[in-house]
Amino acid sequence: MSQLTIKVNGQTVHGNSREPLLNQLEKAGLQPEFQCRNGMCGACRCKLKAGAVNQDDVMAFVAPNEVLSCCSVPKSNLEIEFDYLLAENPQAEAANS
Ligand code: FES
Repeated sequence: MSQLTIKVNGQTVHGNSREPLLNQLEKAGLQPEFQCRNGMCGACRCKLKAGAVNQDDVMAFVAPNEVLSCCSVPKSNLEIEFDYLLAENPQAEAANS
């Protein structure tokens, strides 16, 4: 499945099964928190409410229902949730329009 949908904090964006979730959310104009982008810090963690991902081996602690968006590639349509409001990047929106 190449094209899929990602429902994030109630908002639906287009996604794919090739790129890390964090990159896809950024391309959709959202700005999840991150620091290392390689599974060390845990800043990009979010709850996986539905669907499945392939997650690389990571160093940061993640609860059983959480994934690190920088190291996780969607395997299916997803529903995820960050426990904070996601800022939107106006430049990404302009690039997509
Ligand atoms: S940004 Fe550090 S673990 Fe994802």
